[in-house]
Amino acid sequence: MRQLDRYLLFGVRRIDGWLHPDTAEFIAAISDVQHRAGHHGAVGEIGVHHGKLFILLRLAADSDEQAFVIDVFENQVLNVDGSGHGDQKILQDNLIRWCGSTAGVSIIAKSSLIVAPADIISIGGKVRLASIDGGHTAECAYSDLKLIDAVMHDYGIIALDDYFNEDWPDVSTGAARYLLESDTRFRPFAVAPNKLFLATEEFNDFYRAKLASETPFKAAKTSEMFGMKVDVFRGAHVAPPVGTFVLQTLRASAIGPYLLAAKGLLNQRLGRG
Ligand SMILES: C[S@@+](CC[C@H](N)C(=O)[O-])C[C@H]1O[C@@H](n2cnc3c(N)ncnc32)[C@H](O)[C@@H]1O
Repeated sequence: MRQLDRYLLFGVRRIDGWLHPDTAEFIAAISDVQHRAGHHGAVGEIGVHHGKLFILLRLAADSDEQAFVIDVFENQVLNVDGSGHGDQKILQDNLIRWCGSTAGVSIIAKSSLIVAPADIISIGGKVRLASIDGGHTAECAYSDLKLIDAVMHDYGIIALDDYFNEDWPDVSTGAARYLLESDTRFRPFAVAPNKLFLATEEFNDFYRAKLASETPFKAAKTSEMFGMKVDVFRGAHVAPPVGTFVLQTLRASAIGPYLLAAKGLLNQRLGRG
């Protein structure tokens, strides 16, 4: 089993943070699509908290691909809207636990507002897969999209967090500003739980077709955003979580009726009727 698949099965739920398990699998599938297409480059995230999503990116990277994180970490006074709380020590411990080491990871412990494209490019060249989940103000969302736009390969993919989250309306404000500017390159092509995925116009059809033909994910519908077709993956999960899977298998097995009877008995004893 790949380290990435092991992390998806056992790790992702254990790390504190914000990443829907369906979306975790969706991002891993997108990364596989890129590799099959021969698309290589760095991977990275703005806003890492304890590494829940970043570890997935690190494990999805080939041995010749570098990974970077940008977070204010202990300098939380720069986290002006209090979104998450980066912790470098916990991130490093989690990397060692799930990736074996911190090799191949470069940490930029600064506000993304003062990071320059050259700071990222100097780590591992242009980027093929990036997550934006740092400050959730309109200023940060806009500035982070501009920063990442400047370092991406044409075939790159950006995952933007909380675009549709009513708790963080400024994210869509900043993103809309970016998306309406004619000299910006990335536009939406897919939606999965709590993430908006963007690619260049040139790769919109390519990635939508590859997701449909090469992955088990099935779009619930195709919609339109900012003039581009967008496939909507609701609860994109194709396989139930491990716990549910084990329970379903046990229920369907010969001991299933006994388990149900035992559950009924237990409920009676506990007075749950
Ligand atoms: C919502 S959390 C990130 C969650 C993470 N992506 C995960 O997988 O769970 C937001 C993170 O952004 C960081 N942050 C906030 N403002 C920032 C800024 N201006 N520049 C860089 N990081 C920032 C916070 O420290 C926090 O770690």
